[in-house]
Amino acid sequence: MRKRSFIGSELFEPLQRWRPGIFFTIAFCVSVIAPGSSALGQSASAEPALIHYDETAHTFRMDGAGVSYIFGMNQNGELQSLYWGKRLRPADPIPQARADGGTSAFDLPVNATPQEFAGWGGGLVVVPDLKITFPDGNRDLVLHYLSHTVRDNTLTISLKDISRNVVVDLIYRMDEETGVLARSARIENRTKLPFTIEQVFAATWNLGSSNDYQLRYLTGRWAGEWNLQQTALHPGKVVLESRRASTGIEVNPWFAIERSSEPDQDVGDVWFGALGWSGSWQINVETNWQNGVRITGGYTPFDFSYDLAPGQSLETPEFYGGYSNAGIGGASRLLHRFELDSVVPQGSHRRLRPVLYNSWEATGFDVNEAGQEALAEKAASIGVERFVMDDGWFGERKDDHAGLGDWYVNSQKFPHGLKPLIGKVHSLGMDFGLWVEPEMVNPNSDLYRKHPDWVLNFTDRPRTEGRNQLVLNLARDDVKAYVYSFLDKLLSENEISFLKWDYNRNWSEPGWPAAPLEKQKEVYVKYVRNLYSILTELREKHPHVEIESCSGGGARVDLGILHTTDEAWPSDNTDPFDRLSIQDGFTYAYAPGVMMAWVTDSPNWMNSRSTSLEYRFLSSMQGSLGIGANLNKWAPEDFAVARRLVAEYKAVRATVQDGALYRLISPDGNSEYSVTESVARDGHEAAVFAFLHSSQKGQPYPQLYLRGLDPSAVYSLHVQEGKLADGTVERASGDYWMHHGVTVSLRGDFHAAFFTLERERPQ
Ligand code: GLA
Repeated sequence: MRKRSFIGSELFEPLQRWRPGIFFTIAFCVSVIAPGSSALGQSASAEPALIHYDETAHTFRMDGAGVSYIFGMNQNGELQSLYWGKRLRPADPIPQARADGGTSAFDLPVNATPQEFAGWGGGLVVVPDLKITFPDGNRDLVLHYLSHTVRDNTLTISLKDISRNVVVDLIYRMDEETGVLARSARIENRTKLPFTIEQVFAATWNLGSSNDYQLRYLTGRWAGEWNLQQTALHPGKVVLESRRASTGIEVNPWFAIERSSEPDQDVGDVWFGALGWSGSWQINVETNWQNGVRITGGYTPFDFSYDLAPGQSLETPEFYGGYSNAGIGGASRLLHRFELDSVVPQGSHRRLRPVLYNSWEATGFDVNEAGQEALAEKAASIGVERFVMDDGWFGERKDDHAGLGDWYVNSQKFPHGLKPLIGKVHSLGMDFGLWVEPEMVNPNSDLYRKHPDWVLNFTDRPRTEGRNQLVLNLARDDVKAYVYSFLDKLLSENEISFLKWDYNRNWSEPGWPAAPLEKQKEVYVKYVRNLYSILTELREKHPHVEIESCSGGGARVDLGILHTTDEAWPSDNTDPFDRLSIQDGFTYAYAPGVMMAWVTDSPNWMNSRSTSLEYRFLSSMQGSLGIGANLNKWAPEDFAVARRLVAEYKAVRATVQDGALYRLISPDGNSEYSVTESVARDGHEAAVFAFLHSSQKGQPYPQLYLRGLDPSAVYSLHVQEGKLADGTVERASGDYWMHHGVTVSLRGDFHAAFFTLERERPQ
């Protein structure tokens, strides 16, 4: 390994550039790794290697896209965060890890040092990443560096307790395209006796001292999901958590922290993170008295315990973290790119979301062959590509009181099975999708009558129903096998291209009486793992099948479920105005390319609001377009409008679904206006959707200053829907559109406009 030294003014200059990021120690290091080299024997290349190790300073540095993440071993053997922020130059000095001395007897160094992963022991009072009870009563755990390996762009660091053979592997994998870092931990019992894990998180992210941190997170309720919250961080702890055994609706496992007292959409340093876990979870944001922040996340410790026998290990979910210096907007654009390319199945080779039709709001449970075929014909006539039959097709399902668990086709509604309907849908040029809710059972079902012990329950305790249903215990191998086999049969016997996978309640009485007592709480982990494994096995066997994650709306959207599903249903609320803020919130954490948005009936069933068909379409066209209206009630002119708008959507859908999203005006905070702009990945096009709630006091619509364009390229403007001001030019430079802007001419209530800018090829 080559090393270089800096002295005097050479040191000063790079230090100026560090300001956007964060250092956790003031100590300097004079030895750094030369570009393209590595202590681990990797060959030098033109591009800096992704993972550097400096064996003298004992520091690790990961670089990806615009981000550097640096940590090292301090003199105590603890792994200590050093820097996370804007990418540093290859030759920039890396500070050496030095444990903080603390300032008083009440402030032990172990708490003042920003550790990457801390065991509960040695006086730790901040949230530990790992807490273990040993059979001899010892609960002290102090983790020090043991060794590390680099393989396939993955850095694994092993920590070990100072006396016991408990080994923790910390796994780091940085995405080169976005700099998003995936972190997880594996706890291994190498002692001779079992022990109990009482708390384990995936990782700790540390941010250095600053007195103007703002935390953002997403909260919600049924039909009112994805509200962006913002709060200043002060000493103390903010706990974001789901105890529902699934991702949950109240809070989503995502956060962003911005260093600014007046956050701007597209300017400023933002650190963000998201958990890849669909069970109960917790994220703690702790701010210490020096205004340093540590964020721990993973399984919630609430009602958690996991026994490890000698030789066994437990792996945590992944906790993803990223950094952007382009504000919260830049942070979400990075996350979108990461999700679409590296999380959802098929990654960068995935198909764009087809325009789908779903029958739920039109028919409710009242589905049958003739009715569905009639809707399918109408859907095909407007350009729909996927026809989805929702709830009601199976068992004795007439309403939500019966049938869940009995996954045979209802012979009164479909006397010839599903094949005639599927054949009809295919003959109309669409593929076919079906609603299922595999993890649930109605007590009024053959399955429950036969297997009452298959549900989560505590012996001799009530079984609380939600929507008249109970939760099957997927942690049980027999239940897992049943669920896999009925879905495999359904997909093998029918040409089904899509499943809308629903999950319409949370757990109560989370008991697993058939398991040994010490294993019963593992239900939280094993259930979710079995869910993932069913989804993975089904996808392997039926690779053409796509899946939507739905949970009574958006109650199960996270980076874990998105590994095995292609899209998500953000909310049962399909009112196009409410959807503007629901969708706005959703996209802080998740990509428009996975966000399903249906055009439904007016007045809307949920809030009786009346809007035009054009307004409804434009609202839904900001995501992955679907139609959920009762087409039997449409007039011929509605079909004409829908045909035109579906065609317009298809022309821009790659830009909307896969492009870079800019929030020109956020609907947050009851704004009268809402505007999104999506810029195609290759920059050839931008699509702008502008909405007006109602004009007041003759106020003009705010001037729109576009973003993300090539300043010197020429773009031509195409107004697709709505009206721009008279005299709006048709051709101008990127600079013009971004700085002179566009004047939209919207007046009245619930109006919308849609226009595109197309980059002209240089002559
Ligand atoms: C949930 C879903 C709806 C619909 C119904 C069917 O509420 O969110 O879209 O599928 O179930 O019962």
